[in-house]
Amino acid sequence: MTAVEYELAGDIAVLTIKNPPVNAASQAVRAGLVTQIERAEREAKAVLIVGDGHTFIAGADISEFGKPPQDPWLPGVCSRIEDCSLPVVAALHGTALGGGLEVALGAHYRVAIGSAKVGLPEVHLGIMPGAGGTQRLPRLTGTETALDMITTGRHVSAAEALEFGILDKISDGTPRDIGLAYAEQVLKEGNGPRPTRDMPAPEPVDFDAWHQKLITAGKGQIAPATAVRAVQAACDLPFDDGLAKERELFSDLMNSPQREGLIHAFFAERAVSKLPELQDVVPRELTRIGVVGGGTMGAGIAGAALLAGLSVTLIERDRAAAEKAEKTVNALLDGAEKRGKLSQARRKDITAGAFSTATDYAALSDADLVIEAVFEDIAVKKEVFAKLDQVCKDSAILATNTSYLDINEIAAATSRPQSVIGLHFFSPAHIMKLLEIVVADKTAPDVVATGFALAKRLRKTAVRAGVCDGFIGNRILAHYRMAVDNMVLDGASPYDVDKALVKFGMAMGPFAVSDLAGLDIGWATRKRKAATRDPRERVPTYADRLCEMGRFGQKTGRGFYLYPDGARKGVEDPEVLDLIAAERAAAGVTPRAFSETDIQTRFICAMINEAARVVEDGIAQRPLDVDVTLIAGYGFPRWRGGPMKYADMTGLETILAHLRNFATEDPFFWQPAPLLERLVEKGRTFEDLNQGMDV
Ligand code: 3HC
Ligand code: NAI
Repeated sequence: MTAVEYELAGDIAVLTIKNPPVNAASQAVRAGLVTQIERAEREAKAVLIVGDGHTFIAGADISEFGKPPQDPWLPGVCSRIEDCSLPVVAALHGTALGGGLEVALGAHYRVAIGSAKVGLPEVHLGIMPGAGGTQRLPRLTGTETALDMITTGRHVSAAEALEFGILDKISDGTPRDIGLAYAEQVLKEGNGPRPTRDMPAPEPVDFDAWHQKLITAGKGQIAPATAVRAVQAACDLPFDDGLAKERELFSDLMNSPQREGLIHAFFAERAVSKLPELQDVVPRELTRIGVVGGGTMGAGIAGAALLAGLSVTLIERDRAAAEKAEKTVNALLDGAEKRGKLSQARRKDITAGAFSTATDYAALSDADLVIEAVFEDIAVKKEVFAKLDQVCKDSAILATNTSYLDINEIAAATSRPQSVIGLHFFSPAHIMKLLEIVVADKTAPDVVATGFALAKRLRKTAVRAGVCDGFIGNRILAHYRMAVDNMVLDGASPYDVDKALVKFGMAMGPFAVSDLAGLDIGWATRKRKAATRDPRERVPTYADRLCEMGRFGQKTGRGFYLYPDGARKGVEDPEVLDLIAAERAAAGVTPRAFSETDIQTRFICAMINEAARVVEDGIAQRPLDVDVTLIAGYGFPRWRGGPMKYADMTGLETILAHLRNFATEDPFFWQPAPLLERLVEKGRTFEDLNQGMDV
């Protein structure tokens, strides 16, 4: 099979790209386009380029990135199309993204079916358009629109693309039919090639302001700001020089660690849901969902399920609590409606009965899946599960949203442990991308498959986790949290810690996160674990003192930070620094300084070390599962690829050397994970484990 098929339809050469699943512009496609354009010039009067299957070209072939480039390069292919002596029409359907849109921009005319989307999403991969997109798009759309599309990477609907001047026409029909009709019209009207490069250069804008804005918003990510300079070249330089500038900037980004991190994230996010053991397993049918507990999480989960078109019955303890939950869910739906995420028709369905609340568990008798989100208390959860087991139909799946508790123990409270699973959502549950699917000892494969199917329906990224205290994410969080707490005990300011870690790229600093989640949660956990705590473990007593003062974080207006008049961004509080200093003095600690690098190194090393244990224990199946968990649920910078990718890029021997060094002062906390030691000894990486190597 050839990657670009050639067919003569009258005077028109139809070039059909066949490279499933998404017609990526791999080497065979690029070579095929050049060969078939040349043939068309000998045999036809016009050319039509279409994609086979469900999409036009979705972009350059990402799996070729980082490998030696193979001729012909995509920029040359796009220029060859543009230089064609015949008029070239591209007919778009599905998604014409990145290099795919650039091929279409190389064509002289563009038509699309109404559902098509176009975009230049390269910045999400740490690069920027590299096949003329930064030079041709602004000539068609004007500079501001091109800058918006290129620096956000957003997908633009066909209607918008028509308005922007990217498309010449939107028609109903197959891409081949609408493309042929348009090409025939071009010939009939006697129109010839219409190269975009011959259009006047776009008007300049305040590029320095754009650059600065994107540097700030990028939180360390450089691709969007870099792309601004390429668009600037489209305004300032002749077309060919602009292309050369684009190539230079593109190559810089292609060689950057950010590109490596983001491409890893792209493939890891797709690999997490592909579990060999689920290959032939059919998920259970899901239509009606039950939610028990309508607090922060239950209301969010109910909202997420309703937004995905499922019916929801929510159970609360009494009528007042049920009404409160109903209000919370409705407020959340109002927000979704305002943001255009919920249609009016669906809202009507929800009001007409797709959503209901009750206080009697019997209302769950026909639910296909029930998600429990009551208080984090094992006795309460076991009681709830015993009740659910009584009222729910035999095929119903019973799920818990517990953060830390033992799901095997919860499952044992039922007569159907094979149908019990953990579905660990993150707050706010209708927004956060991550769903940990926690598989207990007796959970049946079709129940696991149903969890993944639910995640897909909710448009969440699902990661399989095993049962332990905190599963993948919270277990690792507890450990790196301990590292930062210990630094504060030893002399660091919580504010400096937060600043250093935001600079590293974290969405928020850990102390600001505590304030958001509520300091009482950590306090309760510390109390729960006090009896079983290893005496060598250090306790952040200053956090207990803050709680004793009623400083629970944002919700009380005071935590590590102050939140005057309900402010969402905290203000530093000298009183907290005094309190911490007093705690250090009481513990006999002489404070020492931690540089920004010290803080970042300890933080990331603690994270990697615990993550290695999580992998070794089988709680995460592969290092990439940890990477996706931390990126999708914990604000880890996607452009760093996740902690395990970061470790591989830094060098595992460097990470191990840091750990051994830190272990000289606190051997209990910094004991290197055996898996990490073995990998270093054998010269292996976490990526080797992702590839299935046994170490
Ligand atoms: N190259 C190689 N493989 C790709 C690919 C690409 N550009 N885009 C998608 N794939 C693969 C995926 O890895 C996946 O493979 P798998 O089945 O083995 O896991 C398969 O195609 C299907 O992808 P999805 O599961 O993501 O399918 P969806 O239907 O959900 O989404 C999509 C389709 C919207 C096209 C989405 O895959 C996507 O956003 N892809 C990336 C698009 C992109 O970033 N293009 C720009 C590339 S960079 C570029 O063009 C540089 C140029 O300027 C020089
Ligand atoms: P919450 O305190 O806001 O809500 C709990 C709700 O459960 C309350 O509305 C309460 O009235 C209700 N409830 C208690 N017992 C009940 C019963 N027997 N029947 C029906 N309803 C009952 O708690 P939150 O934060 O929503 O947490 C719920 C669960 O989700 C916990 O297990 C928690 O660990 C977990 N979780 C919490 C996250 C968070 O960020 N808050 C994140 C992920 C998981």
